[in-house]
This record gives sequence, structure tokens and C-alpha cells, in this order.
Amino acid sequence: MRSHYCGELNASNISQEITLCGWVHRRRDHGGVIFLDVRDREGITQVVFDPDRAESFALADSVRNEFVVKLKGLVRARPEGTVNPNMNTGEIEVLGTELEILNAAQTPPFQLDDHQNVGEDVRLKNRFIDLRRPEVQQKMRFRSKVTSVLRRYLDDNGFLDIETPILTRATPEGARDYLVPSRTQQGSFFALPQSPQLFKQLLMVSGFDRYYQIAKCFRDEDLRADRQPEFTQVDIETSFMSEEQIMVMTENMIGDLFKELMNVDLGAFPRMPYSEAMETYGSDKPDLRIPLTIVTVSDLMKEVDFKVFSGPATDPKGRVAALKVPGGNSLTRKQIDDYTKFVSIYGAKGLAYIKVNDKSNLEEGLQSPIVKFLPIEVRAALLERLEAQDGDLIFFGADSTKVVNEALGALRCKLGEDMDLYTCEWAPLWVVDFPMFEETSDGGITAIHHPFTAPSCSPEALKADPLNALSQAYDMVLNGTELGGGSIRIHQVSMQEVVFELLNISEEEQQEKFGFLLDALKFGAPPHGGLAFGLDRLVMLMTGSSSIRDVIAFPKTQSATCLLTQAPGEVSEKQLKELSIRVRKPVVES
Ligand code: AMO
Ligand code: AMP
Repeated sequence: MRSHYCGELNASNISQEITLCGWVHRRRDHGGVIFLDVRDREGITQVVFDPDRAESFALADSVRNEFVVKLKGLVRARPEGTVNPNMNTGEIEVLGTELEILNAAQTPPFQLDDHQNVGEDVRLKNRFIDLRRPEVQQKMRFRSKVTSVLRRYLDDNGFLDIETPILTRATPEGARDYLVPSRTQQGSFFALPQSPQLFKQLLMVSGFDRYYQIAKCFRDEDLRADRQPEFTQVDIETSFMSEEQIMVMTENMIGDLFKELMNVDLGAFPRMPYSEAMETYGSDKPDLRIPLTIVTVSDLMKEVDFKVFSGPATDPKGRVAALKVPGGNSLTRKQIDDYTKFVSIYGAKGLAYIKVNDKSNLEEGLQSPIVKFLPIEVRAALLERLEAQDGDLIFFGADSTKVVNEALGALRCKLGEDMDLYTCEWAPLWVVDFPMFEETSDGGITAIHHPFTAPSCSPEALKADPLNALSQAYDMVLNGTELGGGSIRIHQVSMQEVVFELLNISEEEQQEKFGFLLDALKFGAPPHGGLAFGLDRLVMLMTGSSSIRDVIAFPKTQSATCLLTQAPGEVSEKQLKELSIRVRKPVVES
């Protein structure tokens, strides 16, 4: 229907007769002439209708925002003084000669340039209109480019794109499953995949050597800005490659992507052991753009007359740590109170601090609610360890190691943001040497990655000291977000059985849930490993978006519903009957 896109016209088209199709972005009546800004996916062009052509003028007068139109016209230079340097098409305009209304539109629930004044719920309910906004269109187009560049890289490196099932059995990745009832086997359920993990391992057993898939994954978990119940992974698996080779290959893939689409050189990614990340940054996904570090001071606090510090300092599972904020002396009481409230979200019972006014005067130069509990020599050792200067502020966390790491780790990121401490725009790294397991609150153990991750030690060593065993797992982190993670997998059935045993999965349950994997490992499984990137998170970071909802065409809300389709919805009695399902409505407490 069209000869050109609206957004592609420029001075080189002057004097051409063109046909455009698109949406009326704005209509302006300028005393006798009507201007229509007509929009399509490529941009906006200004079209002028004058009363000389009575028919098209009358039609142009009648259109409203978001009408769908087709028009013919002549491209001409804009009159001097009306050139708009902010528009790609700002040098030209189209003199409209014919206009056809392809479809009228009701007044939209919000004007495209007024989206900020309506809540996200209104935008998501009318997402088909929200998606027309040029900014959102740009993000979706960028996402399409990202998948295209990644596919090209993987294709060029010999990876095969193979689909895996959506109706399947549970894949344990640490979240709840979405279940789908079976009609043909009543009382049985499929689980939607939390990831294609087990299938990609089976593809390696089948000899495909290099696999990838842009795969939908489903996880019923608490949602945040960087989590959706349904999200997309760039999922990768390889055979006969070492941890090092897999990391280099995927680091190059992300490096090439940033170079090609953003002209950003990410450089070589540093590697950091998990233990260092937790100790120094309080997080397994440290944001290295922020120069603040967390320093252990437990040894200095063992004997101080302040139970809040001496308790955790002498407890093997406790930690006392300090976070120095250069120049933080200027923080007000109110700001410190707000940060105290902030760390309480992570379980911290307080946030002690010292303002370093004059480090040469250890008696009076330190301003703090707790300094009275610290002997002079402890004060001196503390300032020395932290290399504190006058004008600095030191925050403290004292609790179980877990609470201290989470609280000070989050505080570090919050201070970085609030005080704009960022030293660079992009800070990628690999976190390596993860432990295999961690303790659960009920004293059991759980896999830090998934139970198919290979340990760095023998089955005997693993059994002897599971909590201190390291795994061959690696996470790629960018600006404090976990972009992707993976591992070398267990490829020997004896090792897999040991891990299941340590996780307290009985032999019966192993057979029931993972019998097919254990079988596959017995029939010639090659050494293999891989990883998966969160595509939504990658695009979120690359486009500077604050939520992955902004880079997903039809996202769900924080409560895992789709406002557009009103899913999840009730189903008919007949459908339930076919599935032999009776719904027990939750009891509403009055
Ligand atoms: P993992 O569980 O670490 O590993 O997931 C890989 C990546 O997927 C992204 N991600 C999410 N993105 C949006 N919403 C979510 N709810 C969500 N959950 C995870 C993250 C994460 O780094 N099978 C393994 C990979 C492997 O071992 O090869 C897996 O799924 O960016
Ligand atoms: P209190 O003895 O409760 O008055 O606390 C004295 C100071 O220590 C206050 O600044 C508290 O915020 C801080 N504080 C209390 N508990 C902790 C803790 N677990 N970790 C760090 N600081 C704490």
C-alpha cells in the first residue's frame, strides 16, 4: 500500500510523489491549513493539507489522533525557519493530495506523549497502544537486533538451534513450578520448564555437541523489577569444552554484541571467586562500578564491651564488618536514619556508624553512638585498616554473616546510587568458584546452582565435606545484575547419585523425577557444560531500562497477572470436569 515509511523521508526525496500509511500522531489546525503528523514504525512525517483540495482537506479536518490513514502527496522542503532539527524528517514535509481513512479510532485511554501521567496498570491494560510509543518501539526493535546478533554469533560458531518441550516434567531451578493438568492421564500434571536444563544435557548425550535456544522459561517466584514469571533465556550447551573455553566463548559473544550494537568495548572480564565477592561486596553479583568495599573487623571487636559487636565477632557464623564512605561525614542524621531503616529490610537490627572528624584525635575526633564502647587502640586499628580520612563516615554491620553481607551489600549499592559514586558505565565480571551447596534454615543443604552442577572435587571428597566443596559453576555479572550463569555438568552417574543423596533425594524419588537423566548418563554421556543468559535482563541493561517489563512486549504485573488478557482466568465447569479437577476456593478470613 505504501511507497515509503513515514520516518525514512528526507531531503533526497524532495519532489517525489509518495504514498504513506500510518497513524495520525497529532492534528493541528493552523488557520486555513491542516497539519497531520503521520507516524509509522520508522518515525513521523508532517503532512500539510490546504483548502485548494477541498475533499482531502475536509477529510484531514475530520481525522483524530490514532486514526489509520493512507495518503498521497508531494515531498517538499520545509519553508525556511520551520526546519525541525530534532526530527529525522525535519527538513521536509509532504503536501497532501489524497487522503483515505483506513480506520477510525476512538479517543485512546491515554495520549502517547502523556504516558507518564497514567499508571503502569493503565498502560499494561492497553499495551497495544502503549507499544506504539516511539520509545517502546525502539526497545522492541533493539531487542530484535540483540537476538539477531546473538543468533549469528552462535550459528557462526557451530551451534544448532534445537527446540525443547514446554509441556514437561519439573526442572529444579529453585522456583515453584507452573503446572498444567493432563486430560488424558487424569490426576497427573505437566510442569512448564523452569529452564531447558535437562533436555539440553540429553542433547549432548545424543551427540549434537553445540546447542542453543532462545527459550521461554517459567518460574512461579516472588517478582521484582528484574524477574518475570515467564522470561527468555539464551540457553547454551556444549560438549568437550572446559569451563575456561565456555567462559571465553560466551564472553566474546557478549563483548561482540556490545561492540556491534552500542560501540562499547567491555574489555576482558575480571574473574572473582565467590568467597571474595561475598566478603568484599556482600553479594554474589557485585556492582563493580561502585568503589566502596566491605571490610571485616570481627577480630578487632572480639573483646569490646558492646555485646552487639562482641557477640557476632566471637560467633563462627557471625561477622562484624565496616563500610567506609569517603566524604560521608556530610550525611545528615535523617539520612542515616533512612539508611538504618533500609538495612532493616535485610534483617539488620541497627546501623552503627562513626563520623571521622579528626583522626588525629581519637578521644574527641570521632562522632558516633558506639565509639564509647571501643578502646582507643581498637579505634586506632580500625581507622588504619579502613585507611579512613577526615570527612569519612564508617557504617557497621554486626550479625550473622548472611545478614551482614545482605545488609551491607545492599547498602553499598544504595549509597552508590544515591551519591552517584559510579566510576564507569559498564562493569562486567565473572564470579567463579561457587560452593556446591549452602545450608538451609532447617539445617539441610540445598544446591547453590542446580543439582546437575559438577563439583571441583571427587565424589569421596564431596561426601566428606559437602559444605566446603566448590563447584565448576560461573556467573556473568554486569553492573550488579546476574546476566547469566552456568556450569560444567555431572556426566557420571555415580557422581550424580552422590549429589542427589547429599540433597536428601531418596533413590525412589531420584528414579521417579530424574530416572531418564540417570539412564542417559549410563549410556555414553560426554563431558559437557554450558550456561544461560537472561535475555530480558541483557536488553534491560543495554537500553538503560529500569525494569524488564519495559523490554517485554506483553509483560505480567508484580502479582503475575496479565492485565491485557486478564490472565489467569477462571475456566468453565465443563473444562474442569474433563480434567477431573474440583476447585477448592481459598477460605477468605473475615
Ligand atoms: P539460572 O537459574 O541462573 O540458570 O538462569 C539463567 C539466567 O536467567 C535469568 N533469569 C531470569 N530472568 C527474568 N526473570 C526471572 N524470573 C529469571 N530467572 C532467571 C538470569 C539468570 O542469570 N539452567 C541454568 C543455566 C545453566 O546452568 O546452563 C539456569 O536456568 O539472567
Ligand atoms: P543500641 O545499643 O541499640 O542503642 O545501638 C547503638 C548503635 O548500634 C545504634 O547506632 C544502632 O543503630 C547500632 N546497632 C544496633 N544493632 C546493630 C547491629 N546488629 N549491627 C550494626 N549496628 C547496630
